[in-house]
Amino acid sequence: MLGLGPMGRALARALLSAGHPVTVWNRTPGRDAEPLALGARSAGSPAEAVAGAPLVLLCVRDQPAARAVLEAAGSALRGRTVVNATSIAPDDARANAAHAGAGGFRLLNAAIASPTPTIGRPEGTVLLSGDPELLAAHRTTLRALGTVHHVGAEPGRAAAFDAALLDLFWTTAHGYLHALALARAEGISGAELAPFAQGLPRLLPPLIDGFARQADDRSHPGDRSSIVSAEAGLAHVAHTARARGLDTSVLDAALALTRRAVAAGHGPDGVSALVELLTGEPGGRAPE
Ligand SMILES: NC(=O)c1ccc[n+]([C@@H]2O[C@H](COP(=O)([O-])OP(=O)(O)OC[C@H]3O[C@@H](n4cnc5c(N)ncnc54)[C@H](OP(=O)(O)O)[C@@H]3O)[C@@H](O)[C@H]2O)c1
Repeated sequence: MLGLGPMGRALARALLSAGHPVTVWNRTPGRDAEPLALGARSAGSPAEAVAGAPLVLLCVRDQPAARAVLEAAGSALRGRTVVNATSIAPDDARANAAHAGAGGFRLLNAAIASPTPTIGRPEGTVLLSGDPELLAAHRTTLRALGTVHHVGAEPGRAAAFDAALLDLFWTTAHGYLHALALARAEGISGAELAPFAQGLPRLLPPLIDGFARQADDRSHPGDRSSIVSAEAGLAHVAHTARARGLDTSVLDAALALTRRAVAAGHGPDGVSALVELLTGEPGGRAPE
C-alpha cells in the first residue's frame, strides 16, 4: 500500500482485516502507526514496498504525486500489477496506462466513489477500469475494499465515472450550502431547515433515472416542468439571495445557463435539455 493518507489507511485497514499481508509506505515517515499496529510491515521506499508484492495499491493526493511514486518505484514495478486508487483525470489515467506499458507493469485504474468509513464494507464503492482478466485475477483481494465494479477496459473509464459523480456531489453540496446561507439570512437556522431539506433526496431517485433516460434519448419533454418555468424559479431564488446581500455567483451561473437555453428555443422543453446545451449539442427539442 503506497500512500497512507486517510484513504490509504482505510484501504490498508480493510486489507489487513480481510487477512491479507500488507506492506505499507508513505512519503512522510511516521504515518504508519495504525497499519503497523494492525500487523502491516513497513517499507523505507516505494521500491522496497513493491518488491515481492503480487498487488500494489497506490493512493496519494493527485496525478503528480502518483507519477512521483511510480517513478520512485522504478524498475521494481516490472512484472507487477498496480491498482491506482488516486483520484485523477481520465486523460491522466490513459497516460498512466501507457506509462505502465512502457515500464513493463500492469495497471488498473480505480476510482473510489465513497468516503473512508465505507471502505471494507459493501457500501464501499470501487470503480475499476482496465484489463478485465487482470481484475479477475485480483478480484478476491480487491473485494476486501468494498463492492468492486468493472466499468470498462478503456483505462480512463473509472476516472470519467468518478469525475461525473464528483460533479454531482459537489454541485449538490454547494446547493445545500447556499440554501443554509439563504435560510440563515432570513433568520432560519440550519436545524430548522434540515428536516425539510431531508425531503429533497427522497424525490431524487425517479429524477435521476428519468433525467438519465431523457439525456440518453436526447428527448426532453416539458410536460411536467419546463425550462422557462425553471428560469422563473431560479430568478426568484437569486433575487431573494441578492436582496439579503448573499454571494449569488453559483445561482447566477445556473440562471445564465437556463436563460441561454430559453434564448436557444428550449423554453418549453424539460430541464434535462440543459445537458444538450452543456455539451454544445444541437438536439434536445421535445417531440411536438
Ligand atoms: N478521503 C476520502 O474520503 C476519499 C474518497 C474518495 C477518493 N479519495 C481519493 O484518495 C486519494 C487520497 O486521499 P486521502 O484522503 O488519503 O488524502 P490526500 O490528502 O488527498 O492524500 C494524502 C496522501 O498523499 C500523499 N502525497 C501527497 N503528495 C505526494 C507526493 N508529491 N508524493 C508522494 N506522496 C504524496 C501524502 O503523503 P504525505 O503523508 O507524505 O503528505 C498522503 O499519503 C485522493 O486522490 C482522494 O481524492 C479520498
